[in-house]
Amino acid sequence: MSTSIIGAAVGRVDGKLKTTGAARYAIDHPLDNVAYGAGVFSTIANGKIVRIDTAEAEKMPGVIDILHHGNADQLYRPAGQFEHSRASEARPPFEDDGVYYYGQFIAVVVANTLEQAQDAATRVKVTYAEEKPLVHLEDAPAPTGEPVANYSRGDAEAAFESAPIKIDETYITPVETHNPMEMHGTIAAWDGDKVTLYETTQGVVNHQQVMSEVLGLPLENVRVISPFCGSGFGGKLFPWPHSMVAALAARRVKRPVKVYVPRSMMFTTVGHRPYTKQRMRLGATADGKLVSIQHDVLSTTSKVDTYVEHCTSSTPMLYTCPNVKAVQHLVPLNVGTPTPMRGPGTVPGIFPLESAMDELAIRLNMDPLELRLRNYAEKDESLNLPFSGKHLREAYQIGAERFGWSKRNPKVASMRDGGLVLGWGMSTATWHAGRGGATVRVRLNADGTARASSATQDIGTGTYTVIAQVVSDKTGIPLNKIEVVLGDSSLPPGPTSGGSTATASVMPAVAGATNSVVNTLISIAQRTQGSPFYVKETQGGDPPSLKMTKGFIHAADKAPESGVPFHEILAMRRLSGIDGEAKTGPSEEMHKFSGHSFGSHFCEVTWDPGIARLRVSRWVTVMDAGRIINRKTATNQILGGVVMGIGMALLEETLYDPRNGKPLNNNYGDYLVSTNADVPAMECIFVEYPDLNLNEYGARGVGEIGLAGVASAITMAVYHATGVRVRKLPVRIEDLLGHV
Ligand code: MOS
Repeated sequence: MSTSIIGAAVGRVDGKLKTTGAARYAIDHPLDNVAYGAGVFSTIANGKIVRIDTAEAEKMPGVIDILHHGNADQLYRPAGQFEHSRASEARPPFEDDGVYYYGQFIAVVVANTLEQAQDAATRVKVTYAEEKPLVHLEDAPAPTGEPVANYSRGDAEAAFESAPIKIDETYITPVETHNPMEMHGTIAAWDGDKVTLYETTQGVVNHQQVMSEVLGLPLENVRVISPFCGSGFGGKLFPWPHSMVAALAARRVKRPVKVYVPRSMMFTTVGHRPYTKQRMRLGATADGKLVSIQHDVLSTTSKVDTYVEHCTSSTPMLYTCPNVKAVQHLVPLNVGTPTPMRGPGTVPGIFPLESAMDELAIRLNMDPLELRLRNYAEKDESLNLPFSGKHLREAYQIGAERFGWSKRNPKVASMRDGGLVLGWGMSTATWHAGRGGATVRVRLNADGTARASSATQDIGTGTYTVIAQVVSDKTGIPLNKIEVVLGDSSLPPGPTSGGSTATASVMPAVAGATNSVVNTLISIAQRTQGSPFYVKETQGGDPPSLKMTKGFIHAADKAPESGVPFHEILAMRRLSGIDGEAKTGPSEEMHKFSGHSFGSHFCEVTWDPGIARLRVSRWVTVMDAGRIINRKTATNQILGGVVMGIGMALLEETLYDPRNGKPLNNNYGDYLVSTNADVPAMECIFVEYPDLNLNEYGARGVGEIGLAGVASAITMAVYHATGVRVRKLPVRIEDLLGHV
């Protein structure tokens, strides 16, 4: 069916644009007469604005206007139907005089230059009626509301009570802040009652919908343009206040207005992964069969929206177990609204489950991989459905062999390399396999090029390239003659880049649109005088079966080169080009299955007890993620996930001042993410079983799964090296001092 371009390690088709600086990011768009908006952000976390004194700021050079709740046009609330229109915060900016978190947009100063706007913003004087904020989950009373997740099968409590072996531990994952290199930003430009937003977003279609609702405009009056995105990691899934502020300000000053979110406010007003506190109880038999899993989760949200970090999502399906209970409650804090961050729910949720599995293995004196194999789930017991494809056993086996797992001596601190103590850890990874709707248009041009377009976007993951690969696969047109146009809401509607679903969603529509335009071309070839495939309509009989390969239209039973280059057929008909379009939806077939990808991580840490230095020194990841469309970009996604996981395990934590909710480490210097120095040579292997229930290529997404299980593999390795079990991330050197 497919040529070798599917699966090849193809470089990004947009790589040159990015490396030469030609790629245009949101606020790079050059517009005439643009004005600059600088935010004024709250410096308390809870209370009311009593007075905003703008007198001094207004007199500053270049200042055009200052908008705040007392004078700005009211925005509507987004309708908030998930997947059709979702904003990150239900409360639009400037709605009232309330302050709900530190770093909330409370005013915007619009000026002729960025410097003038920023300078004047510092002169806006705000008087607050401050109330004591609630900033930490640990300071909050126990939640009394309804649980936001409540799963149960069997009788987990009774099975736990009677289990011969019990693990009962509590694990904590901290607030982590998305730190994409490209900060959030918007340029809003009005033309009458139509607005164009140059955005950095993971979903131009959703952004358009939300902004039309918030501004009270017909959908077609809002256009969202986002051709490139300097990463999002979930932080750019849904619109944030600054986008609405830019639109409001531009409408008022009758000029395009550019608003970006400074790095420090990237920690307040554009989301984060929330804090979680998770009690995990495992009950097992003496030979290591799980008889009970109980997962109790507290996670945080804000006072202006309800965000659920679905930590229990993988718990009921990852292992076979007759009795499972998973319950989650929310705790609202005076902190900005959390939002999905790469691998939301599963990534923090699998940390306690996989950690507890290791603690159980130690109690049983059993190899942790063997424990996982003993509890291998052959089907999804939560849905009572077969998996659409699960080759985790193979992923464990290949990873173990590649890593040399059989040489592991389980005794703590028993493995050494010179003066370094080695620790080995492993973990299971999983992420759901989903597919949504997409519409794609593909055009074949008389100049021998092709063009594919859709209102989806490439957030750095390789979507431009994957789409070009599918068009090339179906036509044989080389990649350098295929233009892919994305990131514009005026194109046929495509999917949000989220949940590792964009590739699986968009590919069927690209294939369908390409097939459609090729079929049209074939029928033109058969109906055009002068074409070697011309069939007189009156003649009757079956025309020869034609197909398109290597860019030629040719008889199906003959070599491609025996036929005619496709653009010559268009020329015979004096056509500049022809279009095909396809609209595809979720896979109907998938209703009969539980769709998940799986994988294994194997890692080594080195611990230097003399100088208390901990490093990750080796990594092998094996992924069962369906068919891989592009080995290079897929490997990049998986290993990128591992790199973020190393950050989660060892470095990342947003710390808030309890007095005013200010993030203390709100910059690249103090908020640590993994750098090259923290990351060893890593290996990523794919076990490739196409998931044909999901789409004709059998491709699943790979954006999130790489991060799942990384932190628990590392804390397991840290235990193996030091004898210290860290249950509160990130691992800190002070946790390990005084041991070994
Ligand atoms: Mo992903 S957290 O859906 O960008």
